[in-house]
Amino acid sequence: MEIRITVTTENDFSNTEYLTRDVFWNLFKPGCDEHLVLNKLRKSHAYIPELDLVSWDEDHITGHIISTKAVVMDKNGFSHEVLCAGPLSVREDLQHHGIGSALMLSSIERAKALRYRGIVLYGNPGYYHRFGFQDAANFGISTSDGLNFSAFMVLELFDNALQNVTGRFFESEAFKVDEEELNTFELKFPFREKGPAKINLNL
Ligand SMILES: CC(C)(COP(=O)(O)OP(=O)(O)OC[C@H]1O[C@@H](n2cnc3c(N)ncnc32)[C@H](O)[C@@H]1OP(=O)(O)O)[C@@H](O)C(=O)NCCC(=O)NCCS
Repeated sequence: MEIRITVTTENDFSNTEYLTRDVFWNLFKPGCDEHLVLNKLRKSHAYIPELDLVSWDEDHITGHIISTKAVVMDKNGFSHEVLCAGPLSVREDLQHHGIGSALMLSSIERAKALRYRGIVLYGNPGYYHRFGFQDAANFGISTSDGLNFSAFMVLELFDNALQNVTGRFFESEAFKVDEEELNTFELKFPFREKGPAKINLNL
């Protein structure tokens, strides 16, 4: 299978939303909201077109990753710009073939080329440590609520890049979704039955 990665164009917006919905449906909660988050991120100030990436096998979309602008706010109220990675989606029938890794590695390389200092994400440490992500506590970075846990991770993009970047992490407001906007957005998609979450995140 070919794993070709390109920057997403507007022609791929809808297909990548469908992919994200398919992949996340009933995964972490009944239904999902990651496809709406993706839609909102693309309309937000946090959007970085160069870090909206899609993977292809010939002319079929196989996966997608987006990283967007976020900040770490230090105790003096100064904002340090970082990236927030995700959602990351690989077509269910094509998982475990290296597509997710290729997308993440490509995203990291492109973020370095754009001179971003670090990437923050919430995810499975067993998966993300292989790319160099570490517990955010190691960098003195906590969630916006001042919390730390193993699923909250940071990747430093060059040596000492995050040396003076400590404080609380704030991702784009686009990640905040209310039920009403989700229900309205869902009307654009074919009906799908909600079921119990397959994975309990325990954040
Ligand atoms: C998480 C996710 C993006 C990973 O994508 P993926 O393409 O399956 O990831 P990779 O193939 O790079 O790695 C997954 C596993 O496949 C293995 N693998 C990679 N290439 C392989 C290959 N050619 N042959 C066999 N196995 C391979 C990796 O070693 C890894 O194994 P491990 O985690 O059990 O050690 C994908 O599973 C997904 O979309 N999940 C649902 C949504 C989600 O959870 N997103 C992330 C939110 S935090």
